[in-house]
Amino acid sequence: MMKKKLIIAIDGYSSCGKSTFAKAIARELNYIFIDSGAMYRAVTLYCMRQGFIGENYLDHDSIAAGLPSIHIEFVYNPDRGEFDTYLNSENVEEEIRGIEVSKYVSRISTLAEVRTRMVELQRQIGMFKGIVMDGRDIGTVVFPDADLKIFMTASVDIRAKRRYDELTGKGLKVNFEEIKKNIITRDITDENRDISPLRKADDAIVLDNTRMSVAAQMSWVMKIIEQKLNEN
Ligand code: DC
Repeated sequence: MMKKKLIIAIDGYSSCGKSTFAKAIARELNYIFIDSGAMYRAVTLYCMRQGFIGENYLDHDSIAAGLPSIHIEFVYNPDRGEFDTYLNSENVEEEIRGIEVSKYVSRISTLAEVRTRMVELQRQIGMFKGIVMDGRDIGTVVFPDADLKIFMTASVDIRAKRRYDELTGKGLKVNFEEIKKNIITRDITDENRDISPLRKADDAIVLDNTRMSVAAQMSWVMKIIEQKLNEN
């Protein structure tokens, strides 16, 4: 009998380690991992470069009109053993993780046209099954029928510390308080936007990983996945 393939949705707050966790699950199961946040980040970078968004302005009409010109792909990078995000054939993996894009991404992801387009692309990718997708609205909007939904959370301080370590580990000069402020602001914007706000799906399982290692999270989730795979 062919082994059942699942759709696994991982949602939650910024910098909870969703991508690390989702990637580890995908690797374990040999599934495709999709970082939906990277898609919103790529759109944000495009808008910044076009001058559609800045400190005190946002040109909604130009952003909506520009969407058909934005092409996003994930291309395997053998050096990293992971997928890089491409915006209109340019590798933007590093640039989209920076603080500038992080500053604007929540505002871009409140826009209805942007969300509609991203959800459409995410569902196309999901048609293949055997995927783990992380984001904010995967279990609530993109795949309401996902086989497994996990909602991740952790304390703000531990999230800021993890992001700080990640960025300094890449050699970037960053300020801890600025990162923490960015996380708090993004939580508020993500939870309070009108369209697809961040919230736990009724059937999602909560994972608070404030005091959990990745290994501990993996052994926890693999037990749940085994059960799902053995259900008829
Ligand atoms: O996961 P991340 O921090 O890379 O996501 C970047 C931003 O994109 C986040 O602040 C909210 C937005 N986002 C979203 O609105 N919906 C998703 N499914 C994924 C991300």
